[in-house]
Amino acid sequence: MQWTGLNELREKYLHFFETKDHLRLGSFPLVPKDDPSLLLINSGMAPMKKWFLGQEEPPRHRVTTCQKCIRTPDIERVGITARHGCFFEMLGNFSFQDYFKKEVIPWAWEFLTQELEIPADRLYISVYQEDDEAYDIWTKVIGIPESHMVRLGKEDNFWEHGSGPCGPCSEIYFDRGEEYGCHKPTCGVGCDCDRYMEIWNLVFSQFDSDGKGHYELLAKPNIDTGMGLERLACVMQGVGNLFEVDTVAAVLHHVERIAGKKYGENDKDDISIRVITDHIRATVFMASDGVLPSNEGRGYVMRRLLRRAARHGRMLGINRPFLTELVETVIESSEAGYPELREHEGYIKKVIGTEELRFGRTIDAGLNILNGMMSRLKDVHEKVLSGAEVFKLNDTFGFPLDLTREIAAEAGVRVDEAAFHVEMSKQRERARAERLAKDISGWSADLFGELTAEPTQFDGYEVLTESAKVVALSDGEELNDAIATDEAGESKEGVLVVLDRTPFYAEMGGQVADHGYISCGNAKLKVTQVKKTPKGYFVHTCELLDGTLHVGDTVTAAVDAQRRMSICRNHTATHLMQKALREVLGDHVHQAGSYQDDHITRFDFTHFSAVTAEELVEVEKKVNEKIFESLNVEIKNLPIEEAKKMGAMALFGEKYGSVVRVVDAGGWSTEFCGGTHVKNTAQIGCFKILGESSVAAGIRRIEATTGFGVLNLLDERTELLAQTAVALKANNMKDAPARAEALTAELKETNKQLDILKAEMASSKIDGLFQDAADIDGVRIVSAYLTGTGADTLRDMIDKIRDKAPDTVAVLIGSDGSKTMMAVGVCKNALARGLKAGALVKQIAAIAGGNGGGKPDFAMAGIRDCSKIDDALNAVPEIVKNELSK
Ligand code: ALA
Repeated sequence: MQWTGLNELREKYLHFFETKDHLRLGSFPLVPKDDPSLLLINSGMAPMKKWFLGQEEPPRHRVTTCQKCIRTPDIERVGITARHGCFFEMLGNFSFQDYFKKEVIPWAWEFLTQELEIPADRLYISVYQEDDEAYDIWTKVIGIPESHMVRLGKEDNFWEHGSGPCGPCSEIYFDRGEEYGCHKPTCGVGCDCDRYMEIWNLVFSQFDSDGKGHYELLAKPNIDTGMGLERLACVMQGVGNLFEVDTVAAVLHHVERIAGKKYGENDKDDISIRVITDHIRATVFMASDGVLPSNEGRGYVMRRLLRRAARHGRMLGINRPFLTELVETVIESSEAGYPELREHEGYIKKVIGTEELRFGRTIDAGLNILNGMMSRLKDVHEKVLSGAEVFKLNDTFGFPLDLTREIAAEAGVRVDEAAFHVEMSKQRERARAERLAKDISGWSADLFGELTAEPTQFDGYEVLTESAKVVALSDGEELNDAIATDEAGESKEGVLVVLDRTPFYAEMGGQVADHGYISCGNAKLKVTQVKKTPKGYFVHTCELLDGTLHVGDTVTAAVDAQRRMSICRNHTATHLMQKALREVLGDHVHQAGSYQDDHITRFDFTHFSAVTAEELVEVEKKVNEKIFESLNVEIKNLPIEEAKKMGAMALFGEKYGSVVRVVDAGGWSTEFCGGTHVKNTAQIGCFKILGESSVAAGIRRIEATTGFGVLNLLDERTELLAQTAVALKANNMKDAPARAEALTAELKETNKQLDILKAEMASSKIDGLFQDAADIDGVRIVSAYLTGTGADTLRDMIDKIRDKAPDTVAVLIGSDGSKTMMAVGVCKNALARGLKAGALVKQIAAIAGGNGGGKPDFAMAGIRDCSKIDDALNAVPEIVKNELSK
């Protein structure tokens, strides 16, 4: 077998399976599509579950890929040993209800022993204990001796990862030789030591698991194989672990260079070098696929990896930001397989650089504080960091819990995680209360904290008007004119009403609250804001228009139906827009925020660059097509598992209950959503994008409008055009562009003429100047004060004088209305006489309170005292004379 580079191995594998009729596909993004059960893609098969289960038709029934993968169950172990990293690539060939064991086993053997020429006697095979069929193929068809075969139990030879397709498997091991072994008599395949390394897993995928121990036999079996590319490269390159594989080592060497340390000389440094090498690889790929560091979900994984790497940088003595420098090496070593890395280079650097900088500001202070906390525990028997301490590190210094736990563990200190989580939820409550208090003038969030009534029942999905009972009022038992007016007798902005039930939607999930009226007898209140308190009370902020309201009164609560409908249009359109964006820009598009009111919808999403005008047109067209197709919008409350199966888009990091509300527009757009929507997309009327902009690194924003909003826009634009036509004196709107063009051309021509005239005037002025020229010892002196002349013209005039009379010193003062400037030019022959413009300008300008400087042949100065201009000009001959005599 021959040394082969990792990039070349990847190509060999994919090509080999292409010769076996497989369709080669590019790696799927690390961010799973429509699979909220998974944070990050962790195997070759994960993005293809629907093809295995027969829920979707694959592009071909034989596929081969090299998939970028991230596994994060034990991040704190990564680096400690050289065994594995979070990031790796997985080679795979897949059969969707096509070939099965008797094809895949010989192919795997052929690839390893013939294509790669790995000696057969170094390979060992395990099969699931009851799988005689696989055992027979290996021994009888391939001819593997019994001594190289083992049968293992479910623990080792049944492959499953969470829910989804799974089955018994057969694994191929490479014997790295005795020197890697533990030398125990029991050592063999399956031993914990490093001798027998599993390189390839052939899964006979025949079941669909619900992840809870229930397996359903699939109608037709599949093949799912996975071979760690880095592991295979270890074999082919004869190296001990993945950090020594060519492409990974390139990154590792770069870390060595930055740190000024050599790998392999000190165990502690080696750990840090490996941590940084693995984590920068993982995060470069994550950034490239649109993941941004955050405090939740996969963004948290990314933040944790980057901050862990930054800390290990400090441990190596690197005291400056360095992670972005490594990005280049990661891209260089992997772009052969992943060209998108180069495309996203600038973006990746921005994402990683921003996070590193952010953490860089607090890391040293945080480490000091943490060391201080731990040293206080020096003599304590059970060393535990309190929840408050861990919280402080997180909140003030940006230390994720896991990072603190890891650092503490290194010093034999535990962290009180439960107490930390209590602190976190207290903080969330505080933030929420603050937000509520800030938003509603005059009341604090715990105003209704003492209330013991049932939470408000929300009926606004079904009805817009209903009877309800007043449960609480902000000013006690009664609300009347005296209470609801301020000292000046003006109606107070916010009197608060809590009802037992309400049709009013409370501001939530980006959608604004409903407006409308609450009335009872002669009492009438205008509702301007609705919020839900942490205890579930809907608080209506109202203006009391008339009458008196009491706790216990039965009122009519009526939502402004027109306004609600406009909000619904914008909200459903947001869903259509998200789907259209994913179709046009790609699956990396994820919601990063949204807002809908009765005028606009604003949608923030992950994307690398500005959306082009063409792409916007396409998105707009797709949304309008779906509006014109009049798709029914169905809203269903479904068990979460079922909703996920439908492929409903969920927000990551969001906690959902066991039943979720799914909004489905004609099967085209399916999203988890609690908002209000139109019943049919045709009700949206029309959709128009108003603008696209950047919100933060990697996040774009589109603002759009629908229905009446589009009509209003049309009116506004028409009005604008009409006004423009009038201003341009065009006959009508249609003629406006031609008229504007004609005027611009005319203006250009006029300016040209003006320039010619100006030049002519300047030359005639110059001729005039020479008539009054003085002669000082063979040097001609031209001086003048020219009003209405700016600095540029002065410079031009002096250039002309230079051409005309090389024996001249020109001193011109000009004012353009705002400034008065002096320019001094010393022409060629005068220069030869030793005159210098800088020296002259200083002396002359000083007379008029000015100062300046320049080169020997040209200098300028500002003039402050204009009453001294004549004095200054009169002094020129004397000053020149003096200079000549020096
Ligand atoms: N899906 C199998 C694995 O990841 C091949 O090991």
